[in-house]
Amino acid sequence: MAFSTYNGMLVISLALSACGSQQPGGHRSTQVPTTYRFDLPTWAKADTSLRIDVPYDNPTTVEGVALGRALFYEKGLSADGSISCASCHQQAHAFADPRAVSPGVDGSMGTRNAQPLINLAWDHFFFWDARALSLELQAFEPVRGHREMGSVWNVVTERLRRDPRYPPLFRAAFDDERVDSMRIAFALAQFERTLISLNSRYDRYYMEGDLTAMTASEVRGRNLFFTSAHCVDCHEPPLFKHHEVSNIGLDSIPTDRGMGERTGLPWHMDRFKTPTLRNIEFTGPYMHDGRFATLEEVVDFYADLVITTSPTLDAHMLPWVQGEVRLSTQDRRDLVAFLNALTDSAFLSDPRSGPPEP
Ligand code: HEC
Ligand code: HEC
Repeated sequence: MAFSTYNGMLVISLALSACGSQQPGGHRSTQVPTTYRFDLPTWAKADTSLRIDVPYDNPTTVEGVALGRALFYEKGLSADGSISCASCHQQAHAFADPRAVSPGVDGSMGTRNAQPLINLAWDHFFFWDARALSLELQAFEPVRGHREMGSVWNVVTERLRRDPRYPPLFRAAFDDERVDSMRIAFALAQFERTLISLNSRYDRYYMEGDLTAMTASEVRGRNLFFTSAHCVDCHEPPLFKHHEVSNIGLDSIPTDRGMGERTGLPWHMDRFKTPTLRNIEFTGPYMHDGRFATLEEVVDFYADLVITTSPTLDAHMLPWVQGEVRLSTQDRRDLVAFLNALTDSAFLSDPRSGPPEP
């Protein structure tokens, strides 16, 4: 199915191309960008839920991804040149931030934990409160965000235009050398779509049949996760997330109302995007505000501390309301062991998504 990133984009695009004529260096490229081939394991290629639909107006290309990668690590996107996307989305942490909340350009602190950037090619909405409906739209936000990069688009585009590295990269990725905000967001989105992680020990054991890939405790944890602990009801394989925003009963008096904070609707209160559990060993601290430092604390929360009286508690939390989720000390240990089997070590150090060579 082909879809557009957002109709509004077209308007922005037309407006920007009108200014484009004033810019120098409008050399058209004679090379057509090369279609990017997503690198999926064999089992994933056969899974129809993992078909990748890219927006028809922003196809993923080798050159677009190369530009997006350079921009992802580019500190020049921030007002004072001090931070890049990678400052808060660090590869060794599956592109999450090991700090509970991230400092932005002038040290101003955000209020939410930076999410990992994993398998976003399959997501339909972004941010904890689901406010961006495409990766293209998402990428517009941090560059201007006051608590993030705090920039103004025309300053950023001028800076990149004057940097000898960028005009050729833009020409290779798009039709000509024009640098504009939409192309920056589109290239970042293309790069983010390539951040695919499906090669954990869990995958090797269950999807590829390598019975040496997991320990007995991890297999016991997996069985609990898929049955009586009810984790799978929301963190569904193969991505270990689901496309919903849910309230899991973290607080009796919440300060951040999640999706409701944005929409003001009572039934949206305290709902947050369900995060993936892939590479969870390295994406801590956990939850939208980074309140839990360890997976043991997260599992103890699910075992003992769920606020079951929360008015918008997700329907999938019914087993907790009914007191059915009981986890012994050994169960908790096994669950944490299983979560660690979702680590994809190759992804965390894949040179293709690290900083580009100078
Ligand atoms: C100052 C730290 C910071 C910087 C810099 C930053 N981000 Fe983020 N990012 C965050 C935080 C915090 C969130 C969660 C915010 C929320 O949900 O309200 C987030 C969320 C996201 C998400 C949503 C992921 C999901 O699963 O929904 C994407 C995608 C993303 N950032 C990409 C980027 C890109 C691309 C850049 C560079 C242009 C960037 N970020 C720069 C902190 C940062
Ligand atoms: C009702 C759906 C639902 C169920 C059931 C559920 N989760 Fe979650 N899980 C979520 C949501 C939503 C969040 C994010 C909540 C937030 O930050 O406000 C989350 C967060 C997490 C996190 C932290 C992720 C991060 O990146 O910060 C872990 C780990 C986790 N869950 C593990 C589990 C385990 C283990 C179970 C079973 C015992 C489980 N979950 C059951 C929906 C669910």
